[in-house]
Amino acid sequence: MISKNMENMLNEQINKELFSANLYLSICSYFQDQDLDGFANFFRIQSKEELFHASKQFDYVHDVGGKVTIKAVDAPETEFNSTIHAFEVTLAHEKKVTASINELVKQALAESDYATHNFLQWFIAEQVEEESLVNNLLSKLRMIGDNSSALYLLNAELAQRTFVEPAK
Ligand SMILES: [Fe+2]
Ligand SMILES: [Fe+2]
Repeated sequence: MISKNMENMLNEQINKELFSANLYLSICSYFQDQDLDGFANFFRIQSKEELFHASKQFDYVHDVGGKVTIKAVDAPETEFNSTIHAFEVTLAHEKKVTASINELVKQALAESDYATHNFLQWFIAEQVEEESLVNNLLSKLRMIGDNSSALYLLNAELAQRTFVEPAK
């Protein structure tokens, strides 16, 4: 059983994951519009991963006797100036999500809610991966600069990415 407060915080986190899914779909659309289909594929998969995060949290709240309340999701940005800008928006967003997961962990410890603390460890590790992945692509993009052949190659590389749903 989780506290009402933890239930509320997890519900807010589910909303943030759904927002993330929409933000990445919005960035996917930006790249699709420019025929950079590898980058579009990368963000379509990011979006699916965010839906998976939301559903993992959804299941957990139910497993511990809480109630999930789905609320309105804010509209994401729809205008991006450049490939680098889209990745900077992504990195800034992932950092916010990391801070939010950290707050949940802090609260779980404050309440001696070890089950939720344990559940959140998967997300702590996931955020390290997410930030590292985006940081890595950002530095590649900075190296590429305005070299369109190099951008073409990175686009082709990102087209190979496939979505694998992690084991629950
Ligand atoms: Fe997420
Ligand atoms: Fe994420």
